[in-house]
Amino acid sequence: MSLNIKELVEKYNTPLYVYDFNNITNRYEELKSAYEGKKSLIAYAVKSNSNLAVIKHLAKLGAGADCVSIGEVKRALKAGIQKYKIIFSGVGKRDEEIREALKEDILLLNLESEAEMKRVAIIAEELGVEARISIRVNPNVDPQTHPYISTGLHENKFGVSIDTAKRMYIYAKKSPHLNPIGVHFHIGSQLTELSPISEACEIVADLVRSLKAIDIDIKFFDIGGGLGVVYDNEVTIKTSEYARVISKATKDLDVTILMEPGRYMMANSGIFLTRVLYEKQNGDKRFVIVDGAMNDLLRPSLYGAYHKIEAVQKDGEKTPADVVGPVCESGDFLGKDVELPLLDNNDILIVHSAGAYGFTMSSNYNTRGKVAEVAILDGKDYLIRQRESFEDQIRLEEACDTSWL
Ligand code: LLP
Repeated sequence: MSLNIKELVEKYNTPLYVYDFNNITNRYEELKSAYEGKKSLIAYAVKSNSNLAVIKHLAKLGAGADCVSIGEVKRALKAGIQKYKIIFSGVGKRDEEIREALKEDILLLNLESEAEMKRVAIIAEELGVEARISIRVNPNVDPQTHPYISTGLHENKFGVSIDTAKRMYIYAKKSPHLNPIGVHFHIGSQLTELSPISEACEIVADLVRSLKAIDIDIKFFDIGGGLGVVYDNEVTIKTSEYARVISKATKDLDVTILMEPGRYMMANSGIFLTRVLYEKQNGDKRFVIVDGAMNDLLRPSLYGAYHKIEAVQKDGEKTPADVVGPVCESGDFLGKDVELPLLDNNDILIVHSAGAYGFTMSSNYNTRGKVAEVAILDGKDYLIRQRESFEDQIRLEEACDTSWL
């Protein structure tokens, strides 16, 4: 995005998330067109960026939503995603969440255990409805990604084995309150290798065939999310190749392909802007202290994730520096050994690829207010989340009676 960063910072202050809505459109259209002529639905993974304006933009493009809490389901509905395009996944759903999702009559509940299936059947019976369900299988393939975001091995907590899934489908088929119409898997995030995806698709397609043979008609083949993006110099999977392996695995099956991309859509549609407070030298070590911190963008601290960082309109010889925030943790950094010119108070740094799992993973640690978010569409900027004030932060505490103290 070609932006006037200085103007944005003057207008909205820092730290700040900025999203390029035209890029979101392009990513959506590219993925959708890879499936041209096939029945497909892009159910955007709301967890990657749940700003209502982002979801609303995607809703207008025709996207569905993949949600992992009733809160996300409500966001999706509020943003205008049609209920028949909403999926509710997640390894632990509370009874109230199941009840509400069934009442909302969303497309599918993705189930991740036999115990959960039984809870859903009981709640559906209480409500007098039939729950459309999908079962998340764990195909036990190694996605070759970071262990924290790998989900498709038996050692991970997600999904059930193929054998358990078969048992569950048979049970569901017999239950008057369950309608098993989908199969789901998600082997991990930030995937850059096609072969594990292909392998998982083949395993799951075989399961669908064996279910069809016993009259369990699976209509939705949900391949989860996981498409990797470029943070540094990764070679990513082409959407056409991605679509090709999935179409190949499912060619004899009359199914709608569901996709749940989050990072693919959002990571490189967003940047994080932070202001330099000071430079500091501790022995040989150079630190650039900025006003953004781990509570605003957790990925570097949590996963050691790399985000490219550059200074805005600043020349000069570059030397390595750790870019650190004001939070009282040694793990509070946005980048390590980043090549940067000498910086002054009020210089601005751009932290790239921050549109996914940036704001949504932010917290109020150290009583820092959540930052503002801005959208850019056709060259115009729009505030899509106000900066959180101190009053916003303490509202729920102040609402409690503390006269007993
Ligand atoms: N579907 C399911 C069932 C998922 O668990 C996830 C992500 C997605 C879809 C979306 O995956 P994506 O397309 O964004 O890769 N916080 C981590 C990422 C955690 C991903 C969890 N599940 C990060 O910052 O890298």
